[in-house]
Amino acid sequence: MNHFLDINKTDITDLRQMIDTAGAMKTARAGRLKGLPDDAQPLAGHMVALVFEKPSTRTRVSFDVGVRQMGGQTMVLSGGEMQLGHGETIADTARVLSRYVDLIMLRTFAEDTLLEMAEHATVPVINGLTDRSHPCQIMADLMTYEEHRGPIKGKKVVWTGDGNNVCASFVHAAGKFGFDLTFCGPEQLDPERVFVEEARKAGSKIEFDRDIWSAVEGADLIVADTWVSMHDAQSTRERRHNLLRPYQVNEDVMAAAGEQALFMHCLPAHRGEEVTSAVMDGPQSVIFDEAENRLHAQKAILRWCLGV
Ligand code: CP
Ligand code: NVA
Repeated sequence: MNHFLDINKTDITDLRQMIDTAGAMKTARAGRLKGLPDDAQPLAGHMVALVFEKPSTRTRVSFDVGVRQMGGQTMVLSGGEMQLGHGETIADTARVLSRYVDLIMLRTFAEDTLLEMAEHATVPVINGLTDRSHPCQIMADLMTYEEHRGPIKGKKVVWTGDGNNVCASFVHAAGKFGFDLTFCGPEQLDPERVFVEEARKAGSKIEFDRDIWSAVEGADLIVADTWVSMHDAQSTRERRHNLLRPYQVNEDVMAAAGEQALFMHCLPAHRGEEVTSAVMDGPQSVIFDEAENRLHAQKAILRWCLGV
């Protein structure tokens, strides 16, 4: 069963093939929009359940549109409105959904919920974000980097701020795709050690630098994310802001990095907090290409999961 649960759990040959397929489908679609023949419809006859236990704009819309572009149909379900949110077990939900649909995409809180869904589903399950990782986002980010600058292998990625779920998937990807990653944030919010050690064992250089000016020197890519994630208690907001303020990405930081550095953010962003509007809307920012590439990357992930 081809579940897409995390980048570190997926074979690099498959990951690379997904990014290549995504690029080819993006090109084909651009051609179609110019009047060339229509895309193939590899998901014709397939029904996909998109289950959300947390809010979403990009993941929800890009999966929904992606499935439809490939000829499939979707059902968007909110966890709170399902029996899942009222005591039915995840295992039973997985067994039941598997009798109706061909694939389940799940955005949830605890990683265990995702793993239990995958264990008991008899159809592929895709991780649409948990408290611990966000692999679909990083597949789109790698595709975006390579579109602009060529192979990511050997490049220097600087993660600024909170070592959160999105950061974790970057660490996973560093080990798989062979790029180096500098974590630039407060020690209290470091990414999980187990992921760092795993990436290092795979040969990737993972460094920790608490000073943003030295960290971004020679960076090929600078990444930021919100200081307060959906799974963080609002009561931690002030503490997090105080810890993370020194790591804001602004025009001075981008200038210190140099012109070769791209800027990425998975969005939604808090302009003026983790990143300034000048950087978001500036010449080094590729944030909307990233958002677009969620669509293309996930179409390739869906095809890999379904073997079509
Ligand atoms: N980047 C991302 O996953 O966005 P949404 O929360 O809007 O899906
Ligand atoms: N780290 C953020 C990512 C949102 C796409 C969160 O989990 O809220």
